[in-house]
Amino acid sequence: MKAVLCKEYGPPESLVVEDVESPKCGSGQVKIAVHACGVNFPDVLLIKNEYQFKPSLPFAPGAEVAGEVVEVGAGVEKFKTGDRVAAMTGWDGFREEVCCEEVKCLPLPESMDYATGAGFTMTYGTSYHALVDRAKIQAGEWLLVHGGAGGVGTAAIDIGRALGARTIATGGDDKKLEKLKGLYSVDHVINYKTTNPFKDRVKELTDGGADVIYDPVGGDVFDQSLRCINWEGRLLVVGFASGTIPAAKANLLLLKGCAAMGVFWGRFAVMEPEKCRRNFETLFEMHDQGKLTPHISHRFPLEKAADALYAVINREVVGKCVLTVHR
Ligand SMILES: NC(=O)c1ccc[n+]([C@@H]2O[C@H](COP(=O)([O-])OP(=O)(O)OC[C@H]3O[C@@H](n4cnc5c(N)ncnc54)[C@H](OP(=O)(O)O)[C@@H]3O)[C@@H](O)[C@H]2O)c1
Repeated sequence: MKAVLCKEYGPPESLVVEDVESPKCGSGQVKIAVHACGVNFPDVLLIKNEYQFKPSLPFAPGAEVAGEVVEVGAGVEKFKTGDRVAAMTGWDGFREEVCCEEVKCLPLPESMDYATGAGFTMTYGTSYHALVDRAKIQAGEWLLVHGGAGGVGTAAIDIGRALGARTIATGGDDKKLEKLKGLYSVDHVINYKTTNPFKDRVKELTDGGADVIYDPVGGDVFDQSLRCINWEGRLLVVGFASGTIPAAKANLLLLKGCAAMGVFWGRFAVMEPEKCRRNFETLFEMHDQGKLTPHISHRFPLEKAADALYAVINREVVGKCVLTVHR
């Protein structure tokens, strides 16, 4: 079987595609015939040895996959051969077969194809946890999503709309923003490069400020967010795609009676696994009912993993980029 291997740390072009032996299924694990893998920015950091986790060489990047269970290890109770699953592998996803702990797998609903399932867990899991568990978003509230065309951004918009929020998306590229508007009927889009500062426009559109702000970008975007947040607003600290970690001005928190709240989905999944599982049940139900429409703008065959990683690096993606395995 084929695997996309990181044998020495470096940029995407240093990855090599090799034939390797099928992995052995350990106890508590399932072996998955991978049909699709989600591509995420941390994959780039992982192969450069710049990520918080450091698997030993050689390894395959790839934090999430979807496929069919082809073998179950001793003690596995929830899955059997033939089941369709999505799995949060952390790494090693860019392979034709991967073994993964049962607890990191979810049954994939019939309504969801493998490519969608491969790009769903991290983005929708994070955004649902942020909007529902943390911000407790309410129908009719104004939701401002920064980096709205990105993976977690599109998921936040999709979920926010399904829950009845009014949406504003920011981003740095007019074409991506137009596409986003068409896909999700976003109420307003703002280009934070050309409408800078964007905070005044948000205040105009919302008549007072955004109630919930979802921020995976950080830096100046975060600073301006504290100036266009509504009274008792919730500013969700999701990530720092801009590369700059901001410092919240405590006087603004006081004056707005607002809260800046951290979102760390990976830790939440470990600390509260049952709640995390229930969140996915709800998300899959919403998908079954046609309330969620995850978008994939880029698909590449497994062998073109480097091109896929560059699509993410170059900020070309709207929604998700996935690798597909020909079967
Ligand atoms: N807290 C959590 O639990 C959690 C979970 C998942 C992801 N994250 C974090 O959330 C962030 C976004 O993840 P994602 O999967 O949505 O990534 P993504 O698909 O690559 O999207 C990132 C978005 O950020 C915007 N951006 C602004 N400045 C950027 C820059 N200097 N470089 C790259 N992008 C920039 C881009 O929009 P424009 O091009 O339109 O500006 C892009 O669409 C990452 O930092 C990730 O680590 C956090």
